[in-house]
Amino acid sequence: MATFRSVFILCIVVVVVNFAVLDLVSGQRSNRTSLWKTLSGDAPLVIARGGFSGLFPDSSSYAYNFAMSTSLPDVVLWCDVQLTKDGVGICLPNLLLNNITSISGPGEKTYSVNGVPTKGWFTVDYTMEDLQIYWLTQAIWSRSQRFDSNQFAISTVEGVAQENKPPGYWLNIQHDAFYSQHNLSMRSYVLSVSRRVVVNYVSSPEVGFLRSIVTRFRGSPTKLIFRFLEADKTDPSTNQTYGSLLKNLTFIKTFSSGILVPRSYIWPVNIDQYLQPHTSLVADAHREGLEVFASDFANDNTFSYNYSYDPVSEYVSFIDNGDFSVDGVLSDFPITASAAIDCFSHISQNSSGQAMRAIISHNGASGVYPDCTDLAYNQAVEDGADYIDCSVQMTSDGVPICLSSINLIDVTTVPQSPFSNLAVIVPEIQQNAGIFTFNLTWKDIQSLKPAISNPAVEYTLFRNPAYKNAGQFLTLDDFLTFAKSKRLSGIVISIEHAAYLAENKGMSITDAVLDALNKSGYSNQTALEVIIQSTNKAVLTRLKEQSKYKRMYMVDEDIRSVDDSSIKDIKSFADYVAISKDSVFPEYSEFTTGAINSVSKLKSFNLTVFVYVFRNEFVEQAWDFFSDPYVEINTFVIGGDIDGVITDFPGTAAAYRRNKCLGRPTLPPYMTPVQVGALLQAIAAAQLPPAEAPYPILTENDVAEGPLPPVSKVTPTTGGTTEAPNTPPSSQPGLTACIFLSSLSMLLASVLLL
Ligand SMILES: *[C@@H]1O[C@H](CO)[C@@H](O)[C@H](O)[C@H]1NC(C)=O
Ligand SMILES: *[C@@H]1O[C@H](CO)[C@@H](O)[C@H](O)[C@H]1NC(C)=O
Ligand SMILES: *[C@@H]1O[C@H](CO)[C@@H](O)[C@H](O)[C@H]1NC(C)=O
Ligand SMILES: *[C@@H]1O[C@H](CO)[C@@H](O)[C@H](O)[C@H]1NC(C)=O
Ligand SMILES: *[C@@H]1O[C@H](CO)[C@@H](O)[C@H](O)[C@H]1NC(C)=O
Ligand SMILES: *[C@@H]1O[C@H](CO)[C@@H](O)[C@H](O)[C@H]1NC(C)=O
Ligand SMILES: *[C@@H]1O[C@H](CO)[C@@H](O)[C@H](O)[C@H]1NC(C)=O
Ligand SMILES: *[C@@H]1O[C@H](CO)[C@@H](O)[C@H](O)[C@H]1NC(C)=O
Ligand SMILES: *[C@@H]1O[C@H](CO)[C@@H](O)[C@H](O)[C@H]1NC(C)=O
Ligand SMILES: *[C@@H]1O[C@H](CO)[C@@H](O)[C@H](O)[C@H]1NC(C)=O
Repeated sequence: MATFRSVFILCIVVVVVNFAVLDLVSGQRSNRTSLWKTLSGDAPLVIARGGFSGLFPDSSSYAYNFAMSTSLPDVVLWCDVQLTKDGVGICLPNLLLNNITSISGPGEKTYSVNGVPTKGWFTVDYTMEDLQIYWLTQAIWSRSQRFDSNQFAISTVEGVAQENKPPGYWLNIQHDAFYSQHNLSMRSYVLSVSRRVVVNYVSSPEVGFLRSIVTRFRGSPTKLIFRFLEADKTDPSTNQTYGSLLKNLTFIKTFSSGILVPRSYIWPVNIDQYLQPHTSLVADAHREGLEVFASDFANDNTFSYNYSYDPVSEYVSFIDNGDFSVDGVLSDFPITASAAIDCFSHISQNSSGQAMRAIISHNGASGVYPDCTDLAYNQAVEDGADYIDCSVQMTSDGVPICLSSINLIDVTTVPQSPFSNLAVIVPEIQQNAGIFTFNLTWKDIQSLKPAISNPAVEYTLFRNPAYKNAGQFLTLDDFLTFAKSKRLSGIVISIEHAAYLAENKGMSITDAVLDALNKSGYSNQTALEVIIQSTNKAVLTRLKEQSKYKRMYMVDEDIRSVDDSSIKDIKSFADYVAISKDSVFPEYSEFTTGAINSVSKLKSFNLTVFVYVFRNEFVEQAWDFFSDPYVEINTFVIGGDIDGVITDFPGTAAAYRRNKCLGRPTLPPYMTPVQVGALLQAIAAAQLPPAEAPYPILTENDVAEGPLPPVSKVTPTTGGTTEAPNTPPSSQPGLTACIFLSSLSMLLASVLLL
């Protein structure tokens, strides 16, 4: 714990602020109850499964503390109750200690659990004292294991209540029959513990268990909730399947005041993971007077393509769909559920936020449809992008078109086409063989189908297969005509490989762009702002000489800072700068290391700073952002002070901008930027990832480039040299916590100590 000391001292002030925030929020909530189609009319509850188990080991002290300080003020802490050999109630997500604790070695047993022979280390074979030597671990292996450390002792049910004093406490009794077979009584345990600590909810998937306690809880504030498991599973106490029990809600109501169901009971998904129309379950249950809680929410497991990896939109479909609202959601990421309820529900489509100056699409809404297609651009406009973008490529017959890659293999079905034999190696462009736009005519390219981008394919996260080859490619002219008819702030036109095309293909891509703009009427002062983007100074310098369009310099490497002379240089030919996410908040092993000064430095020279590329897929975000694309955007916009985002999912950025919480005088904890670098501080020394070399500083040498070569008359042979990028040596940036010493950003560090 010594590492946290210094953090603690700096953060005391903020803890006080947080309490003030919570009071404020609770005050606001009570005024708004009638909006909700819950049974009571109150806002739905957030139930934190094992605390913030999406980040820290389930049921650990960090997980519970962190859930409390990042969620709605009335968050309910969920504890899966297991019993030890000596009858002590502990919070653990499973009756087996495997995976969820550090247990190993001899002692595995095989017992029948609801009729299924199950092997492992069972809590019933260990006394509470035996368990003291083990610690809690992250059971879901796609989450970070770096918080597994011996500081997380197994907690007792009473301990969790006493340490956290939660506004709501929910005990889930998953197994009564099993413990009875081992001569341990859940009934006695629950009745006795509820006399010692406040228990607001008791849930169980066993009818027999709930019926055995219902009379004892009648008239008490404790609510009994029947938990449905998958429809084909059988309740051991009645031998009925959950599917058949669901048909008899009147019966369920005789011993419970609510039900907890997997989310697919409400919004079924088909085998291809598409959302089906919602069921009538919530309405049916509400008619019976039963509350409905939905389970299995996790940011790293949004369960249908229809949500485009946006966890907030999933919650919203359960709580604000016009027809009904569930009464609570059981989540591993309570911060996202809290934001969905308080900030993202009941928003009018026309509300406009001011938090962020601009949303620029990245190849259109390429998270939804294939890059640079008519569908992707249309979606970007509908989703609320301010600028749509075209990466210009040239065809062999000199037509400028919009395509995210000069290599057709990346974004089209060319490998399955008659042109598949046109692969060549062009070292000036890339090391591997490619099939390049400049080798095919526009007509040839039109005969190909678009192929959707799957940047997270190595994690087997795919974008909507239904749209995998949907849409049409556009010429630059088509794009310009389309953009003119839409309500947009402007367009971004990206130009790369200009020198190669001039020297080797006899084409001036800059002239082609200028001609197209002129022809489409953009040369007049149209309402649309035109921004030409390039990673190449020579291109932007040429454009500056020949036009009045705005220019954006894209820095195509991760940088730690920018020196003054290179900023002055950039300023001489560009109005905007685009830098990578890592250049704003450097990462190592997917943890942010702490803030740096690229953005403030660029902004001090009056450059507008855009950051690329934001994506919803949770693997695209540092752990610090909790697999929540909104937390990431919020931290960049408020914590990083950037001017705008370049995103595959403009819909998510636009929803962020519309959220109701940004307008408040004090931001609630779930809309507070995270303190970058703090999570790394929370990792025990032994678990720290190995150090990595820091990013370089951007210097004038990196920016400087000679003028564009003249356009050649004939098509010459390939050749030329490519320059290795400069990577000057530099020292390791300090991993200091609390660099942003502001009341808004301190939350994370303070929480780790409570
Ligand atoms: C432990 O985790 C692995 C991988 O997630 C899984 O295959 C296995 O079934 C888990 N074991 C138990 C007892 O949960
Ligand atoms: C439970 O108690 C019964 C009766 O005292 C005994 O026969 C049985 O072996 C016990 N079962 C276990 C698993 O300890
Ligand atoms: C359920 O089925 C099992 C095995 O078929 C039987 O032993 C048990 O008595 C049944 N329980 C009830 C409540 O019907
Ligand atoms: C509902 O369950 C109760 C208790 O098992 C039973 O008596 C009743 O017949 C059931 N009703 C229906 C419609 O299945
Ligand atoms: C989900 O997406 C699929 C494929 O685009 C569509 O057919 C279906 O109607 C969508 N489901 C809902 C509930 O909107
Ligand atoms: C949205 O539009 C409606 C109707 O045009 C208007 O009444 C409402 O005030 C608008 N809301 C916002 C936040 O602009
Ligand atoms: C394709 O481009 C490469 C590189 O410029 C060139 O060598 C080759 O001849 C071209 N092939 C065709 C079919 O145009
Ligand atoms: C734009 O077009 C007009 C006529 O259509 C022409 O006079 C002008 O020179 C063109 N400007 C550029 C930059 O090509
Ligand atoms: C510029 O605007 C004027 C007046 O609207 C129009 O007559 C002219 O054709 C426009 N020029 C171009 C190149 O679009
Ligand atoms: C930035 O712009 C402001 C206001 O336009 C101006 O006062 C300031 O001098 C500018 N700073 C630099 C470094 O250009």
